[in-house]
Amino acid sequence: MHGCAVRRRRGGDRVKVDVLVIGAGAAGLMCAITAGQRGRSVLVLDHANKPGKKILMSGGGRCNFTNLGVTPAQYVSGNPHFAKSALARYTPSDFIALVEKHRIAYHEKELGQLFCEESSKLILRMLLDECAAVHVRVEVDCGVQKVRKNEEGFSVLTARGEVHADSLVVASGGLSIPSMGASGFGYELARQFGHNILATRAGLVPLTLSGKHQEHYADLAGVALPVAEARVGKRSFRAGLLFTHRGISGPCILQISSYWQPGDDLRVNLSPQQSIGDWLVDQRAARPAAEFRNVLGDLLPKRLAQRLSELRFASRPMRQYRDAELRDIGDQLHDWPIVASGTEGYRTAEVTLGGVDTDGLSSATMQSKIVPGLYFIGEVVDVTGWLGGYNFQWAWASGHAAGEVV
Ligand code: FDA
Repeated sequence: MHGCAVRRRRGGDRVKVDVLVIGAGAAGLMCAITAGQRGRSVLVLDHANKPGKKILMSGGGRCNFTNLGVTPAQYVSGNPHFAKSALARYTPSDFIALVEKHRIAYHEKELGQLFCEESSKLILRMLLDECAAVHVRVEVDCGVQKVRKNEEGFSVLTARGEVHADSLVVASGGLSIPSMGASGFGYELARQFGHNILATRAGLVPLTLSGKHQEHYADLAGVALPVAEARVGKRSFRAGLLFTHRGISGPCILQISSYWQPGDDLRVNLSPQQSIGDWLVDQRAARPAAEFRNVLGDLLPKRLAQRLSELRFASRPMRQYRDAELRDIGDQLHDWPIVASGTEGYRTAEVTLGGVDTDGLSSATMQSKIVPGLYFIGEVVDVTGWLGGYNFQWAWASGHAAGEVV
């Protein structure tokens, strides 16, 4: 797999390939496979000590490799139309066909999310086997020092020598999880060639609380709601919510984090499936002597019910509440404000929002409109998916789009 094409030619001729891909992650490997299948000579370089580290750690080790319901609407981008072409030409069914060809067992967890039965390792193995089948070389521990464009193509100085390529594909990912090899390399290279970079920030990331807002909830760490609805403006997500030592997390918070900016009004519906007001009125009839906080503790996790009662609703026996009061409490719990101070940042974020401005790229091929032969694919581009397999589908689709033409 890791034949040292670069090192073997050191001191002699430069290594010459048709296509050089920087980054052996999801997008880079898919692009390499597609180009290799067209008979192109392809070299993939990665500065990490092994390929596909994020594939390995994804989906809790089971890789949520796609989503059956992928549409462009599940992507955040400065240009919401940009992802359409690539997503339409390489669909979840195309990737599923590849998974099935390699006899990898998978299942739908929920909401169209497809996971491996066994391990993410199988997805990476599959991609590397496909690379090997079309003679794509994948080299790790090989950083890129300098990239120059000349009349013949691209001259790339690596830790092991110079590589010349007709096409250069930047698949170096975003900034999330630096300990896994993430770097700002792709953005720097894009800037070097005159591309605009849209401001980057952590996405699909837990939110933090500070000051009195943190004090209110800090000792609830570990308390979870199976279903809540987080809302910022007109955007909302319904899924699990978890209180952490530093703030709030869980799928509905990770999802909304990609739409939240500091200062935005974040609201949480603590019981989206049921009218809390109606329920409280019924409970008052059934248990008039019960304390409000104990009654609420039958609807919400007990520690949370206790804390919410302390914060806003002095607890009394249920019979002392009037209908309007219970319905007002219900309305407040359906629209609970949580004042987040920030996010946990790239250290724990699943993705990076922003990146290479799509205005400078062809949506059909991912080729630079400024520098012919230069391509950007995957997370380095300003296209970011929701939680649930959408980001890998973008990596496969954008990698495939470039692989068809490089
Ligand atoms: P990716 O980051 O995968 O690959 C980039 C590669 O470039 C890396 O191998 C890196 O080492 C290399 N590189 C960086 N700088 C370089 C340099 N200067 N020189 C050479 N190489 C360089 N998505 C999803 O759809 N389903 C899921 O289950 C999950 N789960 C998940 C869990 C966790 C913990 C994280 C952090 C992320 C996810 N994701 C996910 C998101 C998904 O992993 C991500 O969107 C894709 O891996 C992006 O693919 P890329 O190939 O663009 O970048």
